[in-house]
Amino acid sequence: MLILGIETSCDETSASVVENGKIVLSNIITSQDEIHAPFGGVVPELASRKQLESIGWVTREAIKRAKINSSQIDAIAVTYGPGLAGSLLTGVEFAKSLSYGLSVPLIGINHIEAHLYANFLEGHKIKFPYIGLIISGGHTSLFYVKDFLDYSFLGQTRDDACGEAFDKGAQILKLGYPGGPVIDRISKTGNPSTINFPRAKLENPFDFSFSGLKTSLLRYVEKKGKITKKELPDIAASFQEAIVDALVKKTILAAEYKKTEAIVVGGGVAANSRVRIKMQNEANRKDLKVYFPNQLKLCTDNAAMVAGLGYWMFRKDIVSSLSLDAKPN
Ligand code: KG4
Ligand code: ZN
Repeated sequence: MLILGIETSCDETSASVVENGKIVLSNIITSQDEIHAPFGGVVPELASRKQLESIGWVTREAIKRAKINSSQIDAIAVTYGPGLAGSLLTGVEFAKSLSYGLSVPLIGINHIEAHLYANFLEGHKIKFPYIGLIISGGHTSLFYVKDFLDYSFLGQTRDDACGEAFDKGAQILKLGYPGGPVIDRISKTGNPSTINFPRAKLENPFDFSFSGLKTSLLRYVEKKGKITKKELPDIAASFQEAIVDALVKKTILAAEYKKTEAIVVGGGVAANSRVRIKMQNEANRKDLKVYFPNQLKLCTDNAAMVAGLGYWMFRKDIVSSLSLDAKPN
């Protein structure tokens, strides 16, 4: 069974063909980093305008690379939310017209559920229930997951998402956009215990907060005046450590509290090398299994995770009507 997935929830435009929910035949992703870089973050109007231009050729390329023709597609899965309104609308309206044109079912996909599904595309045998951690530019959320679409919410960020914290931190350190990958790279040569940046204490132990950390970095940089090339890795590594520390501690605590055997991580920040190492080390100490997508392109936004979850929903007869609408929140 072949599912065409379409993902346009933020600034990526992606289309993918996945066979039987597992075999990724193609996964085309175009990002817009150079468009948003001068602004230090995604500008929604620019994102959707570019997606409107790209969605047609990205989809054609995904079908071509999968070596199929469009008449072989069994269903179309598309992200309807959460995300940026204009961006989501571009994908949803495009998917609706394709579904109508090809006379195949349409399946609306939740972006968060798709990020968790990314781990199932690589053949890991993951047992439910597990603790799901979604970390990206828009989300930092912990879930208790009983099945693909059956989960309860444990906590989330009260202010900035962790990816946003990486991006804003990089802006303060004048490192460019997106900030996560560059802070990750620079931190490799730094000492993470040089500066003890604050870790937020919150009423709900599964909630997160990163805006105080960002302010603390700003104050530190302002006070220093000038940061030398030699100091930069230590500052970046200490900043990164404060984010990673919160993510790892709360996730392990959630697994212990809910007595699950596994942790599944998804979203762009799951590509971070320090979070991968630290989560794995802590999980080993507690005898927990932890899963990250092995391929970094399955951590950040991509349509393969959308098509994969679409297959599972299609088999359960969970399809959408052509009145499917974008749901930004
Ligand atoms: O999941 P994603 O592609 O889009 C959203 O749904 O937001 O995540 C993008 C976020 C950006 O904030 C980016 O800085 C962050 O993921 N990111 C990273 C890394 N790679 C991407 N953060 C930390 N370390 C990385 N290696
Ligand atoms: Zn995402």
